[in-house]
Amino acid sequence: MRLLVTGGAGFIGANFILYWALNHPHDEIRNMDKLTYAGNLENLASLPPLAKHTFIHADITDSTAVHKAIAGVDVVVHFAAESHVDRSISEPSPFVLTNVVGTHVLLEACVKHKVKRFHHVSTDEVFGSLELNDPRTFNEKTIYNPRSPYAASKAGSDHLVRAYAVTYGLPITITNCSNNFGPYQFPEKLIPLAITNILEGRKVPVYGDGRYVRDWLYVEDHVRAIEMVLEKGKEGETYCVGGLTQDINNLAVIKKILAILGKGEDLTEFVKDRPGHDRRYSMDWTKINKELGWKPQHTFDEWLAKTIEWYREHKEWWTRVKSGAYKDYYEKQYG
Ligand code: NAD
Ligand code: DAU
Repeated sequence: MRLLVTGGAGFIGANFILYWALNHPHDEIRNMDKLTYAGNLENLASLPPLAKHTFIHADITDSTAVHKAIAGVDVVVHFAAESHVDRSISEPSPFVLTNVVGTHVLLEACVKHKVKRFHHVSTDEVFGSLELNDPRTFNEKTIYNPRSPYAASKAGSDHLVRAYAVTYGLPITITNCSNNFGPYQFPEKLIPLAITNILEGRKVPVYGDGRYVRDWLYVEDHVRAIEMVLEKGKEGETYCVGGLTQDINNLAVIKKILAILGKGEDLTEFVKDRPGHDRRYSMDWTKINKELGWKPQHTFDEWLAKTIEWYREHKEWWTRVKSGAYKDYYEKQYG
């Protein structure tokens, strides 16, 4: 099989390629990535030397490059996106361009080249926000209610994907997943930011009252979910993927990290809240569990400990990532 992976130099895309190359060594992987601040070819350095991986340095909004890359491809797995909510608040335009226009360019090319499957990687943020005491959770039937420019751009891309399935008969699947964590995550997101700050002896910035709730999904569990959807998922269907069954708020997550690293709560710092901050996400992943047999392989605590170990062992990787332009971003975001 020949796959086109978009955004394969980013966090989840790179984890997907590393997993796929190991478990499907006969497949050919084309990896199209623009290498924005979040794209890093070092994430793929551990690919086996014989891996059938070709890197294409291109922007998914570039129709000519996309058509060339898709010709002859069986399956497209679409990760490429602007992915950070805070950046979407300070500068929304790249989100609309990459997430909406870029997805549309890919869809057009998929129809023209008759790809057998377009798999779209989306987010639970399209569903909006739940209150802390709300008994409801997000599932495949939840009405869309995006509340940040990032979430709105991802919702727009989801709608386009479904419209192309209905209108042009494009064989699609979608996964809406929760907050990923694990190796190679850019340290602008809460868990890698917290781990690396603590390892540097710096404080962890906690937005607002810290009682915001996310559903946490280990990246390898997510990658296996996508594999199952590609292999056994029903064409046209959406699957929600989450990692937890019980709420845990940001303060509790940070406290766990501090405890594992043997540090005290003096390394937390309450900072200005995110505008329009979604209070709570909660995922119901019954469908993918019942229909495809997927479930997380370990508990959150086990995966968190493994993740912390990875960041401890890969200081060089994150020290390089946290140098240069990252410093300007951090200064602007946290003052
Ligand atoms: P990331 O920001 O780490 O990586 C994004 C990758 O896309 C980078 O390599 C970047 O260079 C590339 N890219 C950006 N714009 C591009 C363009 N115009 N053309 C080609 N490449 C481009 O993101 P991630 O966390 O790996 O997320 C991957 C996907 O998963 C995204 O679609 C995101 O919306 C979705 N998602 C992420 C999470 C999460 O917790 N990280 C949760 C749910 C869904
Ligand atoms: O829910 C899935 C989404 O998860 C993905 O679609 C996004 O691509 C991904 O970025 C992530 O979005 P969040 O906004 O939930 O993730 P982030 O790591 O930025 O924040 C997680 C929570 O932690 C959120 O409540 C905000 C809070 N936070 C975040 C940062 C960066 C802090 O308290 N301090 C921080 O410094």
